[in-house]
Amino acid sequence: EVAAPHVIVLFGACGDLARRKLLPGLAYLAVSDLAPEIRVVGTSLEEMDDASFRAFTRQALAEFGNRPLTDDQWAVFEERLHYVPQARGADELARVVREESAALGEGAGLLHYLSVPPKAALSVIESLREAGLVAGSRIVMEKPFGTDLASAVDLNDRVHQTFAEEQIFRIDHFLGKEAAQNILAFRFANGLFEPIWNRNFIDHVQIDIPETLGLDRRAGFYEETGAYKDMVVTHLLQVLAFVAMEPPTALEPGAISEEKNKVFRSMLPLDPGQVVRGQYAGYRGEEGVARDSDTETFIALRCEIDNWRWAGVPFYLRTGKRMAEGARIISIAFKEAPRTMFPANSGVGQAGPDHLTFDLADESKVSLSFYGKRPGPGMKLEKLSMQFSTRETEAAGDVLEAYERLLLDAMRGDHTLFTTAEGIESLWERSAPLLQSPPPVKPYPPGTWGPNAIHQLIAPHAWRLPF
Ligand code: BG6
Repeated sequence: EVAAPHVIVLFGACGDLARRKLLPGLAYLAVSDLAPEIRVVGTSLEEMDDASFRAFTRQALAEFGNRPLTDDQWAVFEERLHYVPQARGADELARVVREESAALGEGAGLLHYLSVPPKAALSVIESLREAGLVAGSRIVMEKPFGTDLASAVDLNDRVHQTFAEEQIFRIDHFLGKEAAQNILAFRFANGLFEPIWNRNFIDHVQIDIPETLGLDRRAGFYEETGAYKDMVVTHLLQVLAFVAMEPPTALEPGAISEEKNKVFRSMLPLDPGQVVRGQYAGYRGEEGVARDSDTETFIALRCEIDNWRWAGVPFYLRTGKRMAEGARIISIAFKEAPRTMFPANSGVGQAGPDHLTFDLADESKVSLSFYGKRPGPGMKLEKLSMQFSTRETEAAGDVLEAYERLLLDAMRGDHTLFTTAEGIESLWERSAPLLQSPPPVKPYPPGTWGPNAIHQLIAPHAWRLPF
């Protein structure tokens, strides 16, 4: 399980993702016994030296790290941090990388992490080629992978001119969340659920990821991206594939992506009439946002996986910024009992269907809700639930943050939890009708669950949140 010694070249080392997730994650991997021998070479447009990059990293860890380093651990880690301003050129970067690599000894791995805007990715790749840092290395790329089918195909073609597919790790951090991986364990390690995991027993599925966060200094990125490209075509649909896929022949990257890609291919093209795009009131007044912006900060949609397992089962997806609560749930609603012998006033059916819920929060949970008898005279029914939470397991302390898990997997060359060019391209293909004719954005007040039209979209069902 331990990663080999590695030099990690972090492009975009001063950006938001680096501060919030990558630097704290690398620090944890370095001081735990999971990746004890890593060296980080940060680079970005900022003019910094090693000392100021170390101070920057310490600040990031203090602000965003959820497992503080002791002073001794920090002293060890900071020695492993180096910085090369982008303006110094690819050769200088290569020199520092070689020096660090030599210090780690023969056989050290080389991982490039591109935490840069999509427009910058190709020039970074070009500079890696010029500097001779491609052979034997691996590269982690962040979404968005294109903005439609043509641009994704073009991007993949260009990346392939320099890197072979086995060297490329397209990250979707939702797949690194413990709870997402638990969907696979839950479905395929038990005989109990798989027989009912289909259209005969499942009525509909909801993937609901409201966020209370707003733009958070990312107006430039968000204006060009919007909720569909930022969240749905990436995280929500990747997670949907874990829920909907057929059992893979093995727990291996090829077998898993084959099944995921089949799900994407069976998805009906998105119907713009089944999509609600929203924009929170006040968005157009924010700094960096166009006064007449058409970017959606909210989206809810209905889609269908048109195959033997799922035909006719609606999948409802929702996500947005500045909403009432933050949550990340996948909710499977089972069909109701075919008839009832319980009196109408017993409460049967009143609390909705039985549900299986995966909570993708950091403390991941799975719960099953069902009707049971309420204690006392007569026959009154109420919703009960059985729950499992990672916090209750013996290994609760071993939980890895999504980025930690995926960084480790990339160092180990394991593609299982990464996405593929083919999968991404078929998702863009399914998205085409929505991208071509997006319905107009509807306003919603910040702190709510989205525009009113979300209720018609899901009728006759209802959104499960708020609980
Ligand atoms: C990112 C999006 O990929 O995921 C953000 O760009 C979003 O807009 C974030 O807030 C949510 O991730 P998490 O792990 O905090 O749920």
